[in-house]
Amino acid sequence: MKSFLRAALFEPRLHGKLLNMLSLLEHIGSRKIMLSQMRKVLDTELLKHMAEETRHAFFFKHQAERFCGQPCADYEETHTLCAPQARIYFARLDAGITRLLGKNAAPRAPYLWVSFIVELRAGWFYSFYEQALQEAKIPLSLKSIMAEEEKHLQEMQRHLHELGVMNDLLCARVVTLETKLFTRLLTHLTQAAGARPPLEQPLHSRAG
Ligand SMILES: [Fe+2]
Ligand SMILES: [Fe+2]
Repeated sequence: MKSFLRAALFEPRLHGKLLNMLSLLEHIGSRKIMLSQMRKVLDTELLKHMAEETRHAFFFKHQAERFCGQPCADYEETHTLCAPQARIYFARLDAGITRLLGKNAAPRAPYLWVSFIVELRAGWFYSFYEQALQEAKIPLSLKSIMAEEEKHLQEMQRHLHELGVMNDLLCARVVTLETKLFTRLLTHLTQAAGARPPLEQPLHSRAG
């Protein structure tokens, strides 16, 4: 992870493309909340979660344009790092978690589990990224985004416990699935940045 970030942050245009990929992932997250919850009661917390993910997508897009030195009107590969692989990561995670939960899952369980695991990875990734930015002396701070992701993680964790669908076995399976998918995405990212290939990037230390 550190090797990839060092390589990506070294070159502003490459950094811009990474930022646009993060914008894409935040946008997909926000859209998934909307699509999966639109037929249910959109309470204040859900609307806030969706609005914050949309704002994160905007923040990263704005920074992407700053580093690329030109508008990044969309998420095409010309100005987005590994856009197809980022989409695949999210799509397979969503499908895999739905499959793991089975047909009799509570209606809200897929949303909560996908959000929980994505928040966990986001917090993990952004802390490495924040550290790399500081080391490279790049004036960009992720602190407010990290605080919001941490709050989302706690909310998802609380709802999973309240719903009675948080258990160690399921958590281990979801973490294993996400680790495999994220490591695959990171392998593509390191190739694109010309960095060393990654080892597996486990989440175990913070999960549960
Ligand atoms: Fe986010
Ligand atoms: Fe979040």
